[in-house]
Amino acid sequence: MPELGLLRAPRQVLFGDGTLEALPAVVAPHGQRFLVCTDAGLAATAHFDRLLGCLQRAGVAVTVWDATEPELPLANVTAAIRFARRADVDGIVGFGGGSSLDLAKLVALGCAHGEDLRPYLAGQAVPGPVLPLVAVPTTAGTGSEVTPVAVLTDPDQVLKVGVASAQLVPRAAIVDPTLTHGCPASVTAHAGIDALAHAIEAYTARSAAPPPDGLEGVFVGKNSLSDVLALDAIGHLAPNLLAAMQDEPAARSAVAYGSLAAGLAFGTAGTAAAHALQYPLGARTHTPHGLGTGLLLPHVMRFNRACRAAELADVARAAGWGSDAGASIDGVARLVAAIGLPAGLSDLGVERADLPAMAKQAAGITRLAANNPRILDAAGALEILSAAWHPTTTQPREVAA
Ligand SMILES: NC(=O)c1ccc[n+]([C@@H]2O[C@H](COP(=O)([O-])OP(=O)(O)OC[C@H]3O[C@@H](n4cnc5c(N)ncnc54)[C@H](O)[C@@H]3O)[C@@H](O)[C@H]2O)c1
Ligand SMILES: [Fe+2]
Repeated sequence: MPELGLLRAPRQVLFGDGTLEALPAVVAPHGQRFLVCTDAGLAATAHFDRLLGCLQRAGVAVTVWDATEPELPLANVTAAIRFARRADVDGIVGFGGGSSLDLAKLVALGCAHGEDLRPYLAGQAVPGPVLPLVAVPTTAGTGSEVTPVAVLTDPDQVLKVGVASAQLVPRAAIVDPTLTHGCPASVTAHAGIDALAHAIEAYTARSAAPPPDGLEGVFVGKNSLSDVLALDAIGHLAPNLLAAMQDEPAARSAVAYGSLAAGLAFGTAGTAAAHALQYPLGARTHTPHGLGTGLLLPHVMRFNRACRAAELADVARAAGWGSDAGASIDGVARLVAAIGLPAGLSDLGVERADLPAMAKQAAGITRLAANNPRILDAAGALEILSAAWHPTTTQPREVAA
């Protein structure tokens, strides 16, 4: 019997090959003047020409910001907000990978509530609605097109930091898998394994608590609605990621769908330890988000195994890997190796002596650490990092729940 459920989503979500053609109708209710947020690489592609063609058919005025930087340094976001405020637009179209979509969310926030984002990085609530945002992903994916989160790099904290608010959920999302055709194999691998991490972390998160205490935060924990989407995501992502890296169209569609479903799942359930640990890792090593979450994921699953054995068995079944928790951990570890991720943190230049500080930082990201099913204090975080540092030498202990 389904119990507690919560879903937050854009008012309109379109999925399927060719759905970009619906963009004129999707932007129409949101105004006449739009800022497109993207990056220089994408702005040089035929996909971008297609987007501009659609906006031309919509008859709206378009200004383009194409200077989004990977992993979003705060100064880059602030420059984009200033640019957008000068352009005086009615709405934003985010076009690209997670970096461009997250930048678009923060620009929508900055246009509505002022360019200084530091209060939100420090945890202040977003005070009200932001500028309308239509999100169009070209990677699969971060799921950012449907989530309430934007992640950026704060140089002061040497840490990736997230702004999380239901106000940041885009007004509409168009997920057209053909926009991922031609996406480089390494970007496909990192984004795809991150989507799998979203689905598995959402499905194995702590359980949502009933009101009055539960359902109020941005990430509320696993629940009946997020569970359905998370398992559906795993069933599409796991068997298709390798073929998507070969640019096989049906696999591209399956992975784009899986990424969207994973985004809807973790947008309410939340992610957990793998994401908390990636924040200090990404900021230190300047490696892509999905490389870090993917590399860490099997170690986090092993750490959580005792308190989420049944859920991990469901993950194995959904992925077609077997029927017990061990099969899910082995399956993820095999996939992570097959898509070419480095074996351990030591391969990324992380020193063993760095691990305690990273563990402390990760345990301090309470939005994510508290969402882990097993307590993620600094000691637990260090255990996972030590196992992931040089995977052949240490494995995290599994303890009784
Ligand atoms: N908001 C969320 O919910 C959420 C979730 C996970 C990750 N993230 C964030 O997303 C970011 C990573 O996003 P990403 O993995 O999508 O990568 P990205 O946006 O950084 O893009 C990586 C590169 O791929 C190129 N690219 C993208 N699509 C392409 C295409 N179709 N064809 C050719 N080139 C293409 C881009 O130009 C860029 O050079 C990180 O900052 C991460 O923290 C956000
Ligand atoms: Fe992620």
